[in-house]
Amino acid sequence: MKYFTTTSNASRRAVDCVIVGIYERNKLGTGASEIDAASKGHLLRLLKSGDLSSAPGRCTVLTAVPGVKAPRVAVVGLGKPAKLNATVYKKAVAAAVAALDGSKTKQVLNTLTLESVADSSPYYLARHAVEAMGDTLYRFTEMKSGRKKKQLALSAWGSSIAKRGDAAKATRGAEHGDAIMHGMNLAKDLGNLPANVCTPSYLARTAKKLAAGNGRLTTQILSEAEMKRLGMGSLLSVTAGTVEPGKLIVMKYKGAGSDAPVVLVGKGVTFDTGGISLKPGPAMDEMKFDMCGAAGVIGTMAAVALMKLPINLNVLVPAVENMPGGKATKPGDIVKSMSGQTIEVLNTDAEGRLILCDALTYARRFKPAAIIDIATLTGACVIALGKHRTAIFSNDDSLADEIFAAGNSAEDRGWHMPMGEEYAAQLKSNFADMANIGGPTGGAVTAACFLGKYTDGMSWAHLDIAGTAWRSGAKKGASGRPVPMLSEVLLARAGALP
Ligand code: BES
Ligand code: MN
Ligand code: ZN
Repeated sequence: MKYFTTTSNASRRAVDCVIVGIYERNKLGTGASEIDAASKGHLLRLLKSGDLSSAPGRCTVLTAVPGVKAPRVAVVGLGKPAKLNATVYKKAVAAAVAALDGSKTKQVLNTLTLESVADSSPYYLARHAVEAMGDTLYRFTEMKSGRKKKQLALSAWGSSIAKRGDAAKATRGAEHGDAIMHGMNLAKDLGNLPANVCTPSYLARTAKKLAAGNGRLTTQILSEAEMKRLGMGSLLSVTAGTVEPGKLIVMKYKGAGSDAPVVLVGKGVTFDTGGISLKPGPAMDEMKFDMCGAAGVIGTMAAVALMKLPINLNVLVPAVENMPGGKATKPGDIVKSMSGQTIEVLNTDAEGRLILCDALTYARRFKPAAIIDIATLTGACVIALGKHRTAIFSNDDSLADEIFAAGNSAEDRGWHMPMGEEYAAQLKSNFADMANIGGPTGGAVTAACFLGKYTDGMSWAHLDIAGTAWRSGAKKGASGRPVPMLSEVLLARAGALP
């Protein structure tokens, strides 16, 4: 995709489509005013006759508007001017792109970047538009046979700017948006692939491929034998029941000399049957998404590499399949983690924490500036926050604040959740140092407290993305979250935001 910025009048740019915005009470946005003036009042006439909707997220595509160079004008509703924020803005861009699907549009000029959007800027408006465009155009067709439906194939995307001085910021925003979109698309593809394709070995190959030919990026894969030598008894107990070999994927991106790296750890359970504590049948297929933490950190790595950020980033993915079987771990089994702490596995379906704890211990060798694990960890998290916000837990309030703020800026929101001794006490075991479950209440919090027993002395946060990583129902599919949130954290740490 080619990205450009322009200060030219919306009516005079020869692109295949111009996106303009209208508000309630027949108020035209900047681009719409320009189109209206060039067409001698065409837009206002249509508005007054009720042929254009100003409701947020509605779009009407007009063709051959007199006096306008572009053959199409996508008119999107922006609602009330005072309520225009980045969320409404992204929805508007998405609606315009969706409305163009099926047309032969190749070049688009987005003039919505000229509107006053609460708490935004030319950088974020350009970036959010590209992310919304990417999200709207994403399709997962890899597994469908037969002829694929023709899809909107854009080649150029422009952002209108009010003054030349905004050009550099808007261009940077679009480029960052493009990188984040690519990271999200990779995360979505990995999430959507079925578990018979996307195995731990497949994740490892994907990570290897990402590093091939990139001088800043290296990937190393640890086998089960190597993990055994490291004493990762907890991780290995999860993979005991399957024939798929478990892997520990280690990716290192070097963009800032010898600085302490940020470490991202992603839960990579490529399928979670629950193990001997077998899950019920309905919707069990969705447990192919149980590697979305891994997909999110690999996708973020892809975005960081594309943006060539001046930062050091290590990504760790413990990748396993959780299956019942003759050699599977049984409820009551006691395993020894790499940290030396012993764990009574009271429920083999609480497996995510069992692989993450060993990966967190392994990460100590990197002396991380901050370590963040990302996991589809608990159903309880979905009960607590629904599918809208990612749960943020941390032993460091300033890190939690940083991630929360990044989520807001990136339009990929989280919520700071509590931790504490009173919750951690629920993990008491009669036979080992701890149990892997904390009883029926506060399940998302006790899971975080379990991980907290492996992160002493590190600035650590845990993101539970069980609700946000994928959608169920008719729109079933991976969301690409939290790639925008994590990318924003790293962009800010790299000093790459305007
Ligand atoms: N992968 C699941 C969590 C999950 C469940 C995510 C449903 C999204 C939707 C995780 O491994 C799990 O099974 N957690 C158990 C923990 C329990 C046994 C303490 C859960 O949430 O039921
Ligand atoms: Mn489970
Ligand atoms: Zn799981």
